[in-house]
Amino acid sequence: MSFRARHLLGIEHLAPDEIRSVLDLAERYVDLNRRTVKSSDALEGMTQINMFFENSTRTQASFELAGKRLGADVMNMSVAQSSVKKGETLIDTALTLNAMHPDLLVVRHPNSGAVNLLASKVNCAVLNAGDGKHEHPTQALLDALTIRRAKGRIQRLTVAICGDIAHSRVARSNLILLGKMENRVRLIGPPTLMPSGVAEFGCEVFDDMREGLKGADVVMMLRLQKERMDGGFIPSEREYYHRYGLDGEKLSVAAPDAIVMHPGPMNRGVEIDGELADDINRSVIQDQVEMGVAVRMACMDLLARNLRAERGAKAAETMV
Ligand code: CP
Repeated sequence: MSFRARHLLGIEHLAPDEIRSVLDLAERYVDLNRRTVKSSDALEGMTQINMFFENSTRTQASFELAGKRLGADVMNMSVAQSSVKKGETLIDTALTLNAMHPDLLVVRHPNSGAVNLLASKVNCAVLNAGDGKHEHPTQALLDALTIRRAKGRIQRLTVAICGDIAHSRVARSNLILLGKMENRVRLIGPPTLMPSGVAEFGCEVFDDMREGLKGADVVMMLRLQKERMDGGFIPSEREYYHRYGLDGEKLSVAAPDAIVMHPGPMNRGVEIDGELADDINRSVIQDQVEMGVAVRMACMDLLARNLRAERGAKAAETMV
């Protein structure tokens, strides 16, 4: 396994061989998770703390399950009941938890860069569970595993990422990963939801769904991130669905075997037609959720191996 990272803060820090290592190990955890007995001892004796400063269903639940299946002691810090509500800062909160000697810290935060800052202050391995508009690395890795299993490869595919690109950390992490693995990426959305400078990522940009979806192998829909919008980015949800919502008619111009993805939570009838989202012949949305647990197990296993090696090397140094 080739995985050198100390933390998992973003896809931008991973090399293609490290991405392949995560996906290959995750395949083994997919098999484990389908057994009746789902336990492993990869994190035995280790402590994992989950700190979610933003709401989550999939990421929080899958990190918790992943840690428990790997044998870690898992603590979910309830931010709403914590001293954060009394004004304690993110860094003071992290330093307080760091003093309790966790091995893995999983953090979601509304501010871009907050998780990187926190990683520089603690001794354990930090995993970014989504920071503002910046990165959501485990989402991009689970999407890559889903694509690789559905298409048989994660190279030389045409992937259309559609919708609210400007506010999406999922889009950013996927764009970086898919580029590193030599795929052709198209971004589709209204100009108001397209960030400036996307061309530097080497992707094509479209504001017309039917143009952008032509021949696509993978169609990845995104949620409208209303919580990050401070103005009128779309005329109305009805108009948005008419122009950018994915339905069978718009999908008909993609490759005949194109798969449909959505990171969730989804707004049915806004980004995607509800029936299409549930169509098991086209939609891999539930597979994405399943791959999420396996990918998070693989990421924590690989980081724990590096942490043990680092601590072993330090212990050896002090003995000399
Ligand atoms: N895809 C994703 O991050 O979902 P949650 O917000 O439910 O974790």
